[in-house]
Amino acid sequence: MVKIGILGVGTVGESVARILEANADIIEARAGKKIVVKSGVVRNLGKKRDVSIALSDDPLSVVDDPEIDIVVELMGGVEEPYGLVKRALENGKAVVTANKALLAYHRYELQEIAGDIPLMYEASTAGGIPVIGALRTGLAANHIEGIQGIMNGTCNYMLTKMINEGAQYDEILKEAQELGYAEADPTFDVGGFDAAHKLLILASIAYGIDAKPEDILIEGIEKITQTDVAFAKEFGYEIKLLGIAKKVGEGVELRVHATMIPSESMIAKVDGVMNAVTVVGDRVGETMYYGPGAGGDATASAVIADIVDIVRGNQGPMLGYKKGLESGLKLLPKEEIVTQYYVRLEVDDRSGVLSKITSKLGEYGISIESMLQQPTNEERIAKLLFTTHKTQESKMHDAIAALKGLDVVHGDVAMMRIEK
Ligand code: NAP
Ligand code: HSE
Repeated sequence: MVKIGILGVGTVGESVARILEANADIIEARAGKKIVVKSGVVRNLGKKRDVSIALSDDPLSVVDDPEIDIVVELMGGVEEPYGLVKRALENGKAVVTANKALLAYHRYELQEIAGDIPLMYEASTAGGIPVIGALRTGLAANHIEGIQGIMNGTCNYMLTKMINEGAQYDEILKEAQELGYAEADPTFDVGGFDAAHKLLILASIAYGIDAKPEDILIEGIEKITQTDVAFAKEFGYEIKLLGIAKKVGEGVELRVHATMIPSESMIAKVDGVMNAVTVVGDRVGETMYYGPGAGGDATASAVIADIVDIVRGNQGPMLGYKKGLESGLKLLPKEEIVTQYYVRLEVDDRSGVLSKITSKLGEYGISIESMLQQPTNEERIAKLLFTTHKTQESKMHDAIAALKGLDVVHGDVAMMRIEK
């Protein structure tokens, strides 16, 4: 018999305990051994929970319990779970975690500490979709050309409802929280940080890149307006929060941002809490992984897959590479990203203004692909919406700063990236 201890019996932890009990027969048949939860840890012992396992509020009661074989970390946070996972590994226990924030900061130290002890994290990225397994093992024969995906269920749920049903941002975020999709601090979701944590994990497996969230471009969905949505529809785009890893020469672009993507692309049709990740391998070509990206049971499904793998004895380097044998590719600076852009600004509605805008853009080598002008509620002020041909991120930033300095431009200049 294999004994499990769960650090954090919240949305995901409760589902793990319930599924291990409800599906015990099939799980035992697949793992080859009976798997039982010995105990769990919570912060508030007074809270009512839908599980029948022994609970404590002392994490060390699990981490230091000599009877527990596998510690499952589902409490969230960074430094506290790091200390506990480290201690569990030092105590010789295998660890399963769904905590992408922890891995975004400490995955390389944890790989080092774990050595040959299994440390698995399928549920950390794209919820119930087995994309970590696909990258670590299924695509092991390939050099990875790129990864692109919807990696945050909360944002995709919110964007779908806001775009298709005109739902209000605050109301729909509250709904995502009630459904158990959002992080304890939902600014991690809407600010793009959660998707960035996942992208960093995938980039480690694909390329061996040891970057931190601070090193990459991260933007969220907070600034999207109905004007942007209408423009996107008119020009044949959907708006999605994407995580993008792209091999460019000997470097890799890593970025997370709201993105306009062609409506006919497969990823544009992924709605609600669903996630989808496309991975392009140099031998296999394009592969795509689709499924629920958040929620208790979907995430627990991935956590239990890791437990079964550990019990079966499946192992391998935690991040997919033996140390020192990584791909050799380096993270490209954010400023060097090259893509197309959509820009929204308000300008004086009079002759000569457009030429001022286009000549300013021309100074930075930026050319316009398409343009739309709309009236505003204010007389003689117009909204100008345009897309550019490919240009470099740093040039776009400089051009926007210069546009803001023109006397014909009013207020902020908003921008969104386009991927085709
Ligand atoms: P949650 O509902 O907030 O559950 C967290 C649990 O950890 C709660 O039971 C909490 O206790 C306990 N906890 C937190 N800090 C603790 C401490 N210092 N000592 C003891 N117990 C502590 O969170 P969740 O949604 O299940 O997420 C758990 C982890 O899975 C996070 O890392 C999250 O990023 C990740 N994840 C979540 C999802 C999802 O869809 N929800 C999907 C993939 C990955 P109380 O209940 O007493 O507060
Ligand atoms: N808050 C995360 C999301 C949970 O919405 O995708 C799954 O990692």
